[in-house]
Amino acid sequence: MEETAKAAKQQFNVRPNAQAISAAERATLLEDPGFGRVFTDHMVVIKYSDDRGWYDAEVTARAPLSIDPACSVLHYAQEIFEGMKAYRTQDGGAVLFRPDANARRFRQSAERLAMPLIPEELFLEAVRQIVSIDRDWVPSGEGALYLRPFMFGSEVMLGVRPSSEYLFLVIASPAGNYFKGGKDAVTIWVSNDYTRAAPGGTGAAKCGGNYAAGLLPQAQAVANGCDQVVFLDAVERRWVDELGGMNLFFVFDDGSINTPPLGTILPGITRDSLLTIARDRGIKVSESPYAIDQWRADAESGRLRETFACGTAAVITPVGEVRSVDGNFKIGDGGAGPVAKELRKTLTDIQRGNAPDPHGWVQKAY
Ligand code: PLP
Ligand code: COI
Repeated sequence: MEETAKAAKQQFNVRPNAQAISAAERATLLEDPGFGRVFTDHMVVIKYSDDRGWYDAEVTARAPLSIDPACSVLHYAQEIFEGMKAYRTQDGGAVLFRPDANARRFRQSAERLAMPLIPEELFLEAVRQIVSIDRDWVPSGEGALYLRPFMFGSEVMLGVRPSSEYLFLVIASPAGNYFKGGKDAVTIWVSNDYTRAAPGGTGAAKCGGNYAAGLLPQAQAVANGCDQVVFLDAVERRWVDELGGMNLFFVFDDGSINTPPLGTILPGITRDSLLTIARDRGIKVSESPYAIDQWRADAESGRLRETFACGTAAVITPVGEVRSVDGNFKIGDGGAGPVAKELRKTLTDIQRGNAPDPHGWVQKAY
């Protein structure tokens, strides 16, 4: 394993950005970065071709890419991505949370989109390289450096077949709250018209196309005064799947928690971590289908105490209200519940190296 890591490291040609943003400007940008608007000085680029495999790995100044108008991704959307974070630790270093899980999921997404599988160690080294060179961009306090590894088909051709060439990149973006205004709880809109993922489709893969298909229902959510859209299953239009960019958890009056089962949803790393943390604490957890009508009935009867969304960008965000064409319902008192608060604290303490890490989830970033 150590040999592989060394080999991956040696492959990178590092060319620091000669026009990096000044320390003063960076400090201003880090004051309130929001989500996905501010970017660091560098990017990682690795090329792939069927003939050569992975080659020309470099860390270089972040800059626009020049691509041919017939580049295959622009036509058939052969693109996948990951979302992960580097956290500032108290000793001034930076750590990654379960980066190996992101590397594995990236390979699973690649498989579904008929793309080459990047070696796990090369993916991890690419991530470590960007955090290392852009280490001054890792926010302290509540924020984190959001990392976006992604890959797309770059062959110039219009044939409908897998591209024979790819670009793998990692960009980095200091991030605060995903939801503007750092609300206590968000309001979500049930999409009756559209679904996100059908059995046999790409729901479990993190591909750009899934998000493109979610933009119209997300816009409808916003038009109805909501922050996010929640999708129901594509077959019966009855079972709660997930949000446009987060998984969902339900907390009941007997202290148990439930989350929809894997299949068509994205297998969230936050979801998996919370299931583990909850089990460790002796909380009864299940991964069972949950119907929209049951959700409403349980919220109204008080059997359901809390609902929260979770993901890398959203961390844990309580859901206060659900709106739909069939009427709205409130969850609990509409604010953040104690279980969501407690799990959020436990998770973020582990992620930032402020609590014991019994599962070995946290790794030094450089
Ligand atoms: N579901 C969707 C559709 C997502 O985009 C995300 C975010 O990555 C998640 C769930 C949560 O996944 P994770 O916890 O791995 O960030
Ligand atoms: C993430 O949490 O990493 C995601 O990709 C979700 C996206 C909506 C920003």
